[in-house]
Amino acid sequence: MTSAVRTVKIAPSILSADFSRLGDEIRDALTGGADLLHLDVMDGHFVPNITFGPPVVKSIRSSTDAVLDCHLMITNPTQYVEAFCDAGADWVSVHVEAPDDIHEALAKIRAKGARPGVVVNPDTPLEKAEPYLDETGFVLVMSVFPGFGGQSFIGDVLDKVRGLKKLGYEGEIEIDGGIDPTTAPLAVEAGCDVLVAGSAVFGKDDRASAIRALREPRQA
Ligand code: DX5
Ligand code: ZN
Repeated sequence: MTSAVRTVKIAPSILSADFSRLGDEIRDALTGGADLLHLDVMDGHFVPNITFGPPVVKSIRSSTDAVLDCHLMITNPTQYVEAFCDAGADWVSVHVEAPDDIHEALAKIRAKGARPGVVVNPDTPLEKAEPYLDETGFVLVMSVFPGFGGQSFIGDVLDKVRGLKKLGYEGEIEIDGGIDPTTAPLAVEAGCDVLVAGSAVFGKDDRASAIRALREPRQA
C-alpha cells in the first residue's frame, strides 16, 4: 500500500480557499506539491450552493499552467461544457444524475481536447455510470453529497471504487469529499488515483505539510 500512497495525485479544492487572495492560495498549494487544482462549479439548482463560472476558471488559467480539474455540479452540462473548456479547463466532469444528455456533454468535452469524466453521487449505483465509461478518461466518486466542503467521508462509496477496478476500468479514479490523512489511505487502498481535498489542504496553514500528510499519511 505504501508505494500506492506515494504515487497518488492530490487535487486541492479551492472551495475551501480564501477567495479574496485566490492567486496566492493557488500558488501556495502548487508549490506545496499539489498535482492538479480541483474547481467546484455549482449552479444553485443541481446542488443547493452557488460558486463560480467560466470567467473565474479563465482567470485561474492565466495565472498557472497546472492541470485544472472542473467538477461541474450543474443541471445542464451540455450547455456549458464548451465554455469551461474554452476558459482553460483540462479535465471536465459531469454528474450522471444531471437530467441532460451525458453522452453529448462528454463528446463536447472530448472534441475540445479536454479530458471528460463522469461523477457519481454517494447514493448513485455504479451501474448508472457504466454506459459512459468508454467515453471517459476518469470517474469521480463522491464520498459526500455535493454542495459543501467540510463534510464527513462516506466509506461505503469505496465499494464503487473496487467495482470500477473489477470492471477493468482503465481511466483514473478520483474521490471527492471528506478526504483527510485518516481517510486518504482507505481511498488509495481501494484503488483511487486522485484525492480531492478542500478543508484538509486550505484549512491548514502549512499547505505543503497538509499535502504531504495526504500523500504519505504515516510519515507526516
Ligand atoms: C463538494 C465538493 C468538494 C469539496 C470537498 O461538493 O465537490 O470538492 O470541496 O471538500 P472537503 O475536502 O472539505 O470535503
Ligand atoms: Zn468537487
